[in-house]
Amino acid sequence: MKRENHREDVIGRANVEDTQELLDYYDQLEEFDTGALWTVANKIEPWEPASTSIPTLWRFQDLREHVLRSIELVTPEKAGRRVVYLNNRGRQDVAAAVGWIYAGLQAMKPGELASAHRHSASAVRFIMEGSGAFTIVDGHKMTLGANDFVLTPNGTWHEHGVSEDGETCIWQDGLDIPLMNALEANFYEVHPDLNQAVGYPVNDMVSKWGQSGLRPTNEGWGKGYSPLFKYRWDVTYEALNDYAAVTDGSPFDGVMMEYVNPVTSGPVMQTMGASMQMLRPGEKTKAHRHTGSYLYHVAKGEGYSVINGRRFDWRKNDIFCVPSWAWHEHANKSASEDACLFCLNDLPVMRSLGIYREEAFGDNDGHQPVA
Ligand SMILES: [Fe+2]
Ligand SMILES: [Fe+2]
Repeated sequence: MKRENHREDVIGRANVEDTQELLDYYDQLEEFDTGALWTVANKIEPWEPASTSIPTLWRFQDLREHVLRSIELVTPEKAGRRVVYLNNRGRQDVAAAVGWIYAGLQAMKPGELASAHRHSASAVRFIMEGSGAFTIVDGHKMTLGANDFVLTPNGTWHEHGVSEDGETCIWQDGLDIPLMNALEANFYEVHPDLNQAVGYPVNDMVSKWGQSGLRPTNEGWGKGYSPLFKYRWDVTYEALNDYAAVTDGSPFDGVMMEYVNPVTSGPVMQTMGASMQMLRPGEKTKAHRHTGSYLYHVAKGEGYSVINGRRFDWRKNDIFCVPSWAWHEHANKSASEDACLFCLNDLPVMRSLGIYREEAFGDNDGHQPVA
């Protein structure tokens, strides 16, 4: 085993030179499944979060044909889920897009239906293109259009399909699979009947709990996730426009709104949150950084983000990640059109554990030098 001594002339940090006597001692400790903390202390307790995830942009124009090709190569029955997943090169230990968030692009053609299952991981599904997509969550069927997103919270039976009269659909799946595995708490189960019956009127949860600011008087909901399983793009975009008309927005995020559980006003699920932010024409935000992992999906427009000093140019349906504690700022390239970024994140975990922290990039008028 390679031992790393981070020799820093700082009081209170490990700074022990290797001697033959010490190396022999380390070998003896290893025999008993132990080790000397000072050989690893600086690595396991960095001064600040040191994400191994690499800022990455996945361009839809590069991926689209490969995602569609998977339709010719495998069936949903054989593959279970026909998905091309986003593999962050810095995370060879797990299949993760960033931090403890997994993401993939799933393609389905009209008439296809994947089998129902449930797992400890929570998921969101963000529709990219096509028509006729639907998801059934615990017997509630939801129809889905472009830029809609749907929740399949942990433990809920769920299945996805595309109606016979629809068009081939591509959507992004985002799950906390790596987090569930890191916590060693992940269970996976296939529905005993392979598919579940629809037990309610279509889109009933949206009709009941829909983004209107009104709550049904005689309906209870005590689960840890939002009963509003589907968040519609048209309602979201209207809310962003309304908000944009009366706010200067955040210097770091533009006009940003969080999707919430209508019962608690908290995040949509316990482990993952989501937001949509609008960058107004020509808007350039200032740089900041915070704990938590962030996966951005371009819902509308064209722009770029600078992440840890590197510029990433994006357009509709591209996906990019901002690892924990990475400096980032966003810009809308258009002088006439707004740009909208959907963001899936693990903020609920950061906040509920009390480890959320945020910092502004003070120098250079708030902008990072670009490498
Ligand atoms: Fe699933
Ligand atoms: Fe941010």
